Amino acid sequence: MGGRSAEREISLKSGTMVLAALKKGGVDAHAFDPRDNGLDALISQRFDRAFVALHGRFGEDGTVQGALEYLGIPYTGSGVMASALAMDKWRTKLLWQAAGLPTPPYELMTAGTDPADLAKRLGLPLMVKPAREGSSIGMTKATSIEKIAPAHELATRYDDVVIAERFIEGMELTAAILGDEPLPLIRLETPREFYDYEAKYFASDTRYICPSGLPADKERSIQRMALEAFRVLGCSGWGRVDAMLDRDGNPHLLEVNTVPGMTDHSLVPMAARAMGISFEGLVTRILEGAHVG
Ligand SMILES: Nc1ncnc2c1ncn2[C@@H]1O[C@H](COP(=O)(O)OP(=O)(O)O)[C@@H](O)[C@H]1O
Ligand SMILES: [Mg+2]
Repeated sequence: MGGRSAEREISLKSGTMVLAALKKGGVDAHAFDPRDNGLDALISQRFDRAFVALHGRFGEDGTVQGALEYLGIPYTGSGVMASALAMDKWRTKLLWQAAGLPTPPYELMTAGTDPADLAKRLGLPLMVKPAREGSSIGMTKATSIEKIAPAHELATRYDDVVIAERFIEGMELTAAILGDEPLPLIRLETPREFYDYEAKYFASDTRYICPSGLPADKERSIQRMALEAFRVLGCSGWGRVDAMLDRDGNPHLLEVNTVPGMTDHSLVPMAARAMGISFEGLVTRILEGAHVG
């Protein structure tokens, strides 16, 4: 838990909750923060398995998975390749497009991108995002041509790869995946412009609706699509697929989180609860899925 990404604080919250649940479940669990400890410490502590509760780069992106793999320590969640791919929203979209899965139209932004031309091609509003960041950090909903350049500038502070994506007006959904099964969908509602950092972690007016209230066949088809989107990237163990429905009810996949938040307000625990799985039960199930290779 912890690490050195922009999502460090959230990871510490997730990790603290997971640690408490593991201990409560009788596991001899210990916190390990790779920001303060090197591989030597990981080796000398002789862990039987690792529950990865790191969000963002240097943890959710395949790097720590690679180290654990190399050391032969079974770890939770996706492997090296899938973690790296899912961290990268651009390459995630390339794979989904190749697999015929729907994702909003987008372009990579460069210093030479002309905002007016971009808006002409993709429409407005646009979502401008760093390709490899999480928690909505560095993201802007650009509602006019004038807002595109500042949005690009903000995103470049977090990543040199920046994408501009068509904004999908409609219902936001997220699909938690546990093992090989999608959990009930959660519908998200916020009065803010989008589900930003504030809405995710601080706002009291963010609404989470689970079960989603969608007709059962619609719910099932989106769950199936989310599971396929997860598998196309090679993801395994557990995770969460974010999606939007447009006004016509068509789904558009946004991204996969291979280490989603695990605080008591987080979405995967909420979806698990709707299935009668407690936080402790969830943590235990995830840990049981730990693997190498
Ligand atoms: N193309 C889009 N259309 C509408 N809303 C979007 C779009 N892309 C992102 N969002 C909003 O921004 C939030 C964060 O975007 P997401 O791609 O999931 O990145 P993050 O890794 O930061 O969670 C989403 O939960 C959604 O509310
Ligand atoms: Mg997201």
